[in-house]
Amino acid sequence: MGWPATDVSVSPLDHWRWKFLSNPLGFHLVCVAEIDGAVISHSASIPVRMKVGDRTVVASQGVDLCTDPAFRGAGLIGRTMVCRNAMKDQHDVRLDFGFPNQASYRLSLGKQGFHDLGITMLQHRYIIDEEQFFKKVRFGPIKRIGYSTYIMLKRPLGPRVDVGGGITLGREREMGEEFDNLYAKASEAFDMMIVRDSGFLTWRYGDHRGGDFIVRTARDNGRLVGYMVHREEVKDGSRFLNIVDALADPAAPDAIPLLLLDCISMAKGMEIETVLCCLPEAHPYGKHLAEAGFLSQVRMTGNQEMKVIALERGGTTDLINRLTGRGLRAHIMLGDTDWV
Ligand SMILES: CC(C)(COP(=O)(O)OP(=O)(O)OC[C@H]1O[C@@H](n2cnc3c(N)ncnc32)[C@H](O)[C@@H]1OP(=O)(O)O)[C@@H](O)C(=O)NCCC(=O)NCCS
Repeated sequence: MGWPATDVSVSPLDHWRWKFLSNPLGFHLVCVAEIDGAVISHSASIPVRMKVGDRTVVASQGVDLCTDPAFRGAGLIGRTMVCRNAMKDQHDVRLDFGFPNQASYRLSLGKQGFHDLGITMLQHRYIIDEEQFFKKVRFGPIKRIGYSTYIMLKRPLGPRVDVGGGITLGREREMGEEFDNLYAKASEAFDMMIVRDSGFLTWRYGDHRGGDFIVRTARDNGRLVGYMVHREEVKDGSRFLNIVDALADPAAPDAIPLLLLDCISMAKGMEIETVLCCLPEAHPYGKHLAEAGFLSQVRMTGNQEMKVIALERGGTTDLINRLTGRGLRAHIMLGDTDWV
């Protein structure tokens, strides 16, 4: 499959172990078919806790369906998916969700009963180096993984920057209990979001087997008021910085604007051409991105608009009614997918 799709500096097997066996919920949803001890088909989902309205349930994102080319067309993927779904029942998974490509969008809605949540995802783009961007300079044969790891190791932690008024910005290595408190406050502004508690954040962004992420925080007199997570990407000779996650205390309205300025200045220091940030339309952080000079357009997956789909499990409908209802305030970013 050319797996994983994202760049990692560890072996695919170590990345697989991180992705499925190190989940902070303490269980996995992976089912494989074997022949003579060799894996020939693989279905998986990633369990997370998700806030839907005023409830928090276990939800799962379907990922990494694959059958060995020599064994395709024999119904193996269907059987590993049935087995994986039975594992969801054991763990009381109440909701399935996903960000499908065109083919799996059709299958999921047509055959499996998923609903399109009707969320328009926007791609916000800030062009740092216009000359580089428009000339599309090629970097030549830079080894993608090797180069980004080299840069990561070279970049120092750096001191926190005092921006006045008691606010400081800086890089963070560990995400502890204060991130739980921030989630508790910040999540009130949203009706749908993956629970970004310290366990989730440490697993998602703090383990190098999952990728190399840069976590920047804003603190008010030492108290955590917001964070932004970044991931560098080299694609077709261009260097991007993806803002893959962000969250701020609603009582600190300057946190996101300051973290954006911090991001742009960091990107300049890293010789990045373009900063990208994916958020639902009408998201409260969207106006800060526009004020900072980001331009937005609809985010595509291949040649269709990025879709968010969900399926309620267990015969009830309250979750899906909430998710498909009017005015849903969803907090969805690239780090919620397995694309980064
Ligand atoms: C897609 C793939 C996993 C199918 O595996 P397979 O074991 O050969 O599957 P089969 O052809 O025996 O069965 C296909 C069944 O799975 C379903 N299916 C195929 N792809 C699916 C998907 N992405 N999501 C849900 N169901 C899917 C089909 O609808 C079909 O169901 P049916 O038998 O009820 O009609 C396999 O072709 C593959 O590994 N492709 C490369 C990787 C890939 O594209 N993965 C999907 C990424 S979303």
